[in-house]
Amino acid sequence: MYQEIDLNKIDIHAEPPVEEPARQYYFMARCKEWVKDFEQKNGRLPSFCVTTFGCQMNARDSEKLRGILKEIGYVEEAEDKADFVIYNTCTVRENANTRVYGRLGQLKPLKKKNPHMMIGLCGCMMQEPEVVEKLKKSYRFVDIIFGTHNIYKFAELVATRLESERMVIDIWKNTDKIVENLPNQRKYSFKSGINIMFGCNNFCSYCIVPYVRGRERSRDPQAIIQEIRRLVADGVSEVMLLGQNVNSYGKTLNTPMTFAKLLREIEKIDGLLRIRFMTSHPKDLSDELIEVMGNSQKICKHLHLPVQSGSTDILAKMNRRYTKEQYLELVEKLRKAVPDISLTTDIIVGFPGETEADFEETLDVVRKVRYDSAFTFIYSKRTGTPAAVMENQVSEEVIKNRFDRLLREVQTIAAEACAVHEGTVQEVLVEDICSHDPKMVTGRLGNNLLVHFYGGQELIGQYVEVKLTECRGFYYIGEMAGKAS
Ligand code: 5AD
Ligand code: SF4
Repeated sequence: MYQEIDLNKIDIHAEPPVEEPARQYYFMARCKEWVKDFEQKNGRLPSFCVTTFGCQMNARDSEKLRGILKEIGYVEEAEDKADFVIYNTCTVRENANTRVYGRLGQLKPLKKKNPHMMIGLCGCMMQEPEVVEKLKKSYRFVDIIFGTHNIYKFAELVATRLESERMVIDIWKNTDKIVENLPNQRKYSFKSGINIMFGCNNFCSYCIVPYVRGRERSRDPQAIIQEIRRLVADGVSEVMLLGQNVNSYGKTLNTPMTFAKLLREIEKIDGLLRIRFMTSHPKDLSDELIEVMGNSQKICKHLHLPVQSGSTDILAKMNRRYTKEQYLELVEKLRKAVPDISLTTDIIVGFPGETEADFEETLDVVRKVRYDSAFTFIYSKRTGTPAAVMENQVSEEVIKNRFDRLLREVQTIAAEACAVHEGTVQEVLVEDICSHDPKMVTGRLGNNLLVHFYGGQELIGQYVEVKLTECRGFYYIGEMAGKAS
């Protein structure tokens, strides 16, 4: 267990161990020495800021980076004042890359002013060779560059940079390794993401993720359960199981295990109250999983089920391996087994070759399923994916028109779907002080909707009964009706 490691007992003058995670503990101990030295010279501890772009997987990875930095003695600080700024990047759409270059441009003058400052870049964008070439050529002021496969080596990379003053670049093309038992610093004390698998084998034709996150690897179920037990002992009551395609969990294990079986095991953990997971691929969503969801007391009645398009032709070109009809049947089955389930989705507009008729099919699915919310994306060409070289790329003007129409439809339906709970009393997990009104708190319903109501700091992390008095489109205003039983 990481908690049992005492970094002060590690001999930092010996050769580094070869085995992981012992090797990383050794480098953490070395960094800790450096931090002590920094404190003596400067009269303060060095500071850091980790900024996350992209999905929940990246958010979880950032917690691991934060955990390591805190362990070696760094303190958290705002980006414009931090000695060490790290961008954990995303590359799923081109505009994610553009944003990182823009932010890097703003860091350059800060680094000139602060001689201690270091800049680290990691995450999906770093797995693209063109990006690293560009950084090496035009962004020489970056100190550390690493990718998605070797994030567990963060302490070693930091130590190398601190002791050498040169740009450290370490990117792996792929890995079959999963290193357990490293520190991490949770954003919330009462809820946590848990990686259950890494990578993706689906190769949807528009998507860069399989190239930057590598092949699918599932964590050992015992390691997952142990991690959740530890988190629960530390105050966590809600977990979000994370993977690019959680429905294919366990297929590559030495002793294969289904995702549904893993959920059943997790459900047994005492003290754990809410279980969420994402993302589900419709092609792998089994009857067994639907049954487990229907019978569970802890699995939240919310499923994020990306449809991407409603047109069977486009779905085939996307390599999604289901038809419009199969998707709709799946939704029907889910609604039957879990009547009050909330469904959300991802939709891409303007995939190459998408005709007006194809787009109408997407609108039709939106109207039939009536999603509680949907993330809508304009297709972004990712170099190296099969779709990037497909013919009939759709013009910007047509895409814009379809995107606006889709958004209107999605928003109208989502507002209606959200409003059905008005007047009911629901159990809510309080997450934060409301960002618009400090006298209010924000809580989350099991179905993932947010509600703001009058209450104070002491409620954070608690389950309370809230009357949903007014629906405001995508969220509620409520009144606390009592503590949950
Ligand atoms: N262009 C637009 N959207 C994309 N997504 C993935 N790749 C692309 C792309 N090239 C969307 C999908 C996926 C979500 C995480 O991002 O809808 O479900
Ligand atoms: Fe990308 Fe498809 Fe894998 Fe999701 S399932 S990460 S969209 S390739």
